[in-house]
Amino acid sequence: MNMMINTVEKFSFKKVVMMLMMAALVFAGLSPFSAKSAHAAIPNGTYSIDYVVYADGTTNASYMDSSEYSVKPATLVVTNGVAKVKVTLKHKDWIKSFKTQQNGTYVEATTTTSGDTKTFEFPVSNLSAKVNAQIHVVVPAEIAGVPYDHTYTVQYLFDEDSI
Ligand code: HEM
Repeated sequence: MNMMINTVEKFSFKKVVMMLMMAALVFAGLSPFSAKSAHAAIPNGTYSIDYVVYADGTTNASYMDSSEYSVKPATLVVTNGVAKVKVTLKHKDWIKSFKTQQNGTYVEATTTTSGDTKTFEFPVSNLSAKVNAQIHVVVPAEIAGVPYDHTYTVQYLFDEDSI
């Protein structure tokens, strides 16, 4: 009888040790990933940042991503933990509206013009997530070949590692 209790006790002690070791292994395994995904806060400043414009819902670069339309890199401005980016599009007269999704609502970006370009500034709460954008493009028929008046949805993805 005594021997049996001993065996049971030994068994559960072993089990507890095993579980603790397994938990330690799981945490050790996870920590490099959490360190990677949780970027340290970017200090205040103005940075150049690379980006890709994706065709809606895909991982393919949009037509808009081409250097024919998009100026790269973008500018990232960080002020007390708040990140804003500025992206520039060529052919200022063709871009009638540029909105990004902020908390579920499309909001017109702050727009400035320079030469034949337009720069759009908008906040980005998570630099590692795609940002939905809605762009209204109108190209004169004599240039596009046909009347070209479209509102497109695309996704911007910024590359925090490029700053
Ligand atoms: C001469 C001017 C342009 C022409 C002839 C043109 C032509 C086209 C054509 C034919 C498509 C359809 C492609 C398909 O569905 O497979 C398309 C899609 C698209 N275009 Fe344009 N485009 C012009 C200017 C622009 C400009 C100025 C922008 C924005 C800056 C733009 C952004 C887009 C976007 C976002 C799409 C949707 C597909 C995607 O994201 O790749 N286009 N364009």
